[in-house]
Amino acid sequence: MHQQANVRYRVSPGGKLSGAARVPGDKSISHRSIMLGSLAEGVTEVSGFLEGEDALATINAFRAMGVRIDGPQDGRVTVHGVGLHGLQPPREPIYCGNSGTSMRLLAGILAAQRFDSVLTGDPSLTRRPMKRVVGPLSQMGARIDASETGTCPLHIHGGQTLRGIAYQSPVASAQVKSAILLAGLYAEGRTCVTEPAVSRDHTERMLAGMGYPVLRDGATVCVESGGSLRATRIDVPADISSAAFFLVGASIAEGSDLTLQHVGVNPTRTGVIDILRLMGADIEVLNPREVGGEPVADLRVRSAKLKGVRIPEELVPLAIDEFPVLFVAAACAEGETVLTGAEELRVKESDRIAVMAEGLRSLGVDAEPLPDGMRIRGGRFGGGHIHSRSDHRIAMSFTIAALRAEGEIVIDDCANVNTSFPGFVSLSQSLGLNVRIEA
Ligand code: S3P
Repeated sequence: MHQQANVRYRVSPGGKLSGAARVPGDKSISHRSIMLGSLAEGVTEVSGFLEGEDALATINAFRAMGVRIDGPQDGRVTVHGVGLHGLQPPREPIYCGNSGTSMRLLAGILAAQRFDSVLTGDPSLTRRPMKRVVGPLSQMGARIDASETGTCPLHIHGGQTLRGIAYQSPVASAQVKSAILLAGLYAEGRTCVTEPAVSRDHTERMLAGMGYPVLRDGATVCVESGGSLRATRIDVPADISSAAFFLVGASIAEGSDLTLQHVGVNPTRTGVIDILRLMGADIEVLNPREVGGEPVADLRVRSAKLKGVRIPEELVPLAIDEFPVLFVAAACAEGETVLTGAEELRVKESDRIAVMAEGLRSLGVDAEPLPDGMRIRGGRFGGGHIHSRSDHRIAMSFTIAALRAEGEIVIDDCANVNTSFPGFVSLSQSLGLNVRIEA
């Protein structure tokens, strides 16, 4: 039912990137605009919404629970909030597709409802770890059945009384943190999450923007139940994780000069800029401003000679989705780049350490996977045939690699690019990449 035909990208080597562009809306903020907009009182108007499959899965989930949601149309969505206690039982299992954010955050919300629900996903999501949310939610009093190995489908039993906890998360994960905080909106007393390092904080910012008190102290965030969310206007900035492909592309392709407009530069997301700058990239942050509680800027990037670096581990959570394309930057840099402390990459939409190492090596790059990262020695590399393993960011990263490859790169299994970056191929073509789709 959810099977997609093979979508193949064929990318000619060389080229440069120039011009100005706005990449699609931020995926994390788009999900949260629907979730919190649904739980708010009143009508939330969203603009700049990401019309990708992941965020659409979240819209479908809330529609299935009785929330009226108009759009998306040209990035505009209107969410008719039902309040914290207004969701209706879904008639069928809720299908989250490829989206870990939908499943984990929904688990937190649904654990606190009076009705039962089931969350399912595609083959990739069905392999991903859910114990990281089921564990703490169960400590709060939730009843959730997962498979023996801790994967979905998740059967969530409604009608439980949740209690606040002080949770020490073993991972810096915004999905885990958000699931617990969302359950905490319904739990008795105070719910706190402490992370080993601060992960993206869009949930906390949006809760506060909707008038819900959030206490923050370093890497600890707390909420208490009893409040309510006020509908608001949400302007979703362009996704820095999508901009990252072009930040790297323009850096590695000689003669490039590109401006990416209205990019979200929340400090919990800008590790990619810091890492590229350490490597010698020429990135200017222009016209910084704040839009609806989120920092935004235009990013001008010009090609530069990159050098290999040891990536500081404290930057890992701040660039967690950008490592596939940062590995491409490393393959084009002079000298060795070493990443450690990034074992989380093994449980993303694919095992991004294994899949990137396999792809880079097939192009002739000297890449050595490590248990928690990668060692890459930059240099010349050729073309080749890549399998994305159904992972959108793998497909887009190897498309960008063609800018410096010495032969054509063909990438199989690219349909999932639509989960986060609809229009990637046409935008890439307009900026100077020589890519075409073969279905
Ligand atoms: C996300 C958090 C990150 C990130 C994902 C989106 C979110 O996942 O990789 O693409 O919106 O909260 P983790 O929380 O698993 O690190």
